[in-house]
Amino acid sequence: MSSSQTGDRRLGIVGAGRVGTTIARAAVAAGYDVAISGSGAADRIALIVEVLAPGARPATTNEVVRHADLIVLAVPMHRFRELPRDLFAGKILIDAMNYWEEIDGVDQELATAPAGTSVVVQERFPSARVVKSLNHITYYKFDESRLPHGASGRIAIAAAGDDRAAVAAVMQLIDRLGFDAVDAGPLEAGLALEPNGSVFGVSYSADDLSNLLRPTASSA
Ligand SMILES: NC(=O)c1ccc[n+]([C@@H]2O[C@H](COP(=O)([O-])OP(=O)(O)OC[C@H]3O[C@@H](n4cnc5c(N)ncnc54)[C@H](OP(=O)(O)O)[C@@H]3O)[C@@H](O)[C@H]2O)c1
Repeated sequence: MSSSQTGDRRLGIVGAGRVGTTIARAAVAAGYDVAISGSGAADRIALIVEVLAPGARPATTNEVVRHADLIVLAVPMHRFRELPRDLFAGKILIDAMNYWEEIDGVDQELATAPAGTSVVVQERFPSARVVKSLNHITYYKFDESRLPHGASGRIAIAAAGDDRAAVAAVMQLIDRLGFDAVDAGPLEAGLALEPNGSVFGVSYSADDLSNLLRPTASSA
């Protein structure tokens, strides 16, 4: 186990919608202690969490952040700026969001981000260790494709980030959730994982995903 990998199985999830509850369910199955929040009080999401991710704990966003060092951000993109800039200080923040004009409205900064929307997310949360991941397959494909480590036909999920230890920690999470993990390189390489990016929305093996992302990408 490398220094960036850890036995810690606490996960925080901000956003209790389709993606958040699907990841929560997979994480509980993988033995994680999961806290998950919506935009309001914990009791507002208690029923949905009980039904869709039994074993996860409904919480406020502040409680989610206190709960874990590894946090998935799965809110609609037009809402991430509601969160305070220093909320995720020191945390590994997995940006699972995608910008969709139909859902998020016209947002010039996101629509024209030359190095991808995760760079904008990193600028919004400068003290967080942002990793782009868990965004390039749909929630239902994620749910139906989880397989144990080493199983044949296992598909891959990529992670891109400038903090290499954070990327390694996210790759460990991806593997535990049921997918091969591919290191896509620096945060701006996350552009390939976004809608209209080269690997968005298609399921690949780790080898194929690595080859598509960059010849030197590595998988685990
Ligand atoms: N759907 C997919 O297959 C898929 C796949 C990959 C990535 N994504 C991306 O993942 C993100 C979430 O998608 P989704 O389909 O899960 O959306 P969704 O079903 O609409 O759920 C969004 C969740 O975010 C919560 N939320 C909104 N603002 C918040 C805030 N300020 N603080 C905390 N929670 C907040 C909402 O809570 P309230 O109800 O309290 O507002 C809701 O629980 C989007 O950026 C999407 O593009 C989606």
